[in-house]
Amino acid sequence: MKAKLIDIIAKATELDKDMVAGLLEIPKNPEMGDYAFPCFQLAKTLHKAPPLIANDVAAQIGDVDILEKLEVKGAYINFFIKKEMFVKAMLETADVENFGSSNKGEGKTICIDYSSPNVAKNFHVGHLRTTIIGNSLYKIYSKLGYKVERINHLGDWGTQFGKLIVAYKTWGNKEDVERDGVAELMRLYVKFHEEADKDDSLNDDARHWFSEMEQGNEEALAIWQWFVDISLKEYKGTYELLGMDFDHFMGESFYRDKTGDVVDRLENAGLLKESEGAKIVDLEEYNMAPCLIMKKDGSTIYATRDLAAILYRKGRWNFEKCLYVTGQEQKLHFAQVFKVIELLGNEWAKDSLVHIPYGLVSLEGAKLSTRSGNIIYAEDILKEAIDKVKEIIVTKNPDLANKDDVARNVGVGAIIFNDLYNQRIKDVSFKWDKVLNFDGETGPYVQYTYCRCASILRNANYDSNANINCSQILDEPAIALLKDINRFPTVVEDAAERYEPSVVARFAMDVAQSFSRFYNADKVLVDDEDIRNARLKLVALTADTLKNSLALLGIDCPEQM
Ligand code: ARG
Repeated sequence: MKAKLIDIIAKATELDKDMVAGLLEIPKNPEMGDYAFPCFQLAKTLHKAPPLIANDVAAQIGDVDILEKLEVKGAYINFFIKKEMFVKAMLETADVENFGSSNKGEGKTICIDYSSPNVAKNFHVGHLRTTIIGNSLYKIYSKLGYKVERINHLGDWGTQFGKLIVAYKTWGNKEDVERDGVAELMRLYVKFHEEADKDDSLNDDARHWFSEMEQGNEEALAIWQWFVDISLKEYKGTYELLGMDFDHFMGESFYRDKTGDVVDRLENAGLLKESEGAKIVDLEEYNMAPCLIMKKDGSTIYATRDLAAILYRKGRWNFEKCLYVTGQEQKLHFAQVFKVIELLGNEWAKDSLVHIPYGLVSLEGAKLSTRSGNIIYAEDILKEAIDKVKEIIVTKNPDLANKDDVARNVGVGAIIFNDLYNQRIKDVSFKWDKVLNFDGETGPYVQYTYCRCASILRNANYDSNANINCSQILDEPAIALLKDINRFPTVVEDAAERYEPSVVARFAMDVAQSFSRFYNADKVLVDDEDIRNARLKLVALTADTLKNSLALLGIDCPEQM
């Protein structure tokens, strides 16, 4: 329907179709029609008031078979599609499974750099956010046909490892590290700082050991690698609970032999300056603090490795975009790094490198079990959610099969949905009774709506090939539900364009709520076969849309819960 309408408007306005497609809106208020076309753009070329243009264009379009009517409201033309035609087009969409997909991104690659915890540190709730947002962006871009490279840029290199080696050699032992993993490494790290406050020579030792690492000392690298393996094993446990994975675990250490090239390039481009013994790129002209490239002692830093990573990724994947999902506190870091890449003569840096920040997690009011030292591990939150859901299942639906799988899907789904329901830049508040409220604006509510649909279809022995008579479901709640579902393709594109999974989460909630209104108003399993089949088809379309939109958030739907 939309494609037809675009043709009609393009013809009447002599604008090209892509332009019309870009301008066409779906009004929030159904009284404004199914589609609305604003005439402001035309006013620029026609030098006439937009409302006058709207009238002219409307007259030019005249009577069209797919339209019930069109109305001019100010600068807008509102289009009302004939209901039968709309319903028919929607319910007879043969390819329900691919609804919302497109080939917009065909042949293009997007790199997403996300999650990226720091080795020997716990995977905390902030890293949970980048993981959830990054994973959702991966799903959304994939749906649009892009090839996505999911990159975990582990924090696995840097002077902190010199400190850890000293701490381990002085106060640690193998058994404790093997038993307690990251928790023990964190304890050693804290111990190092306590002791170094009293005895500065420890810092020299740490510098020494990191420089040994950089020079390939086998003993140093073996200990470091062991710390990396232990940490990665824990992180992978968290990823497994989340049902998420990466294409590349390429941490900072991957670039340690590639930073020299970056320094050379900067040098050759005349961009490097000495400052108190260190090497920097001056960014004053761009109102930014200088980007530190090399410390006084010749060691490189986080930013140097990020520069190397960008050049490496561009060379390997020739990405259309490279997205970085991290907290807002890294805003300056990325602005500096992107600018330096641009100054090296890479024009593409301007549009292709994007920092995607997000807000904090506030745990106010949430009673979360914490391990020693009041540190909150993402894994503990996920496990707690799963346990709580399991308890609910055991009391409310003791006969359910696969209780553990369902508890995982619903518990983890609840956390993901809570994270993605508001704009990512906003802080996320976390309260168990809100997150797990089966009647609220939550993941479990949407999953439960899906289960209701699935159960209706099961009980009716739904046959997707049965003939349907669309003129039988023209009542308001059914149409409203169809209209919501119809927004899916636009929603996916919008979410990708704004790097904003919340657009999809809101959409899933709208569809779930619309379904409830429909289901309260209209009986599905009526005797009249035509009506029953048409309504069942609508239920099936709802189920698929809910499942597909939750999948874009990284949430699985159980069939029963
Ligand atoms: N390891 C960093 C942190 O935990 C995030 C890394 C983000 N990615 C990057 N290419 N700098 O804060």
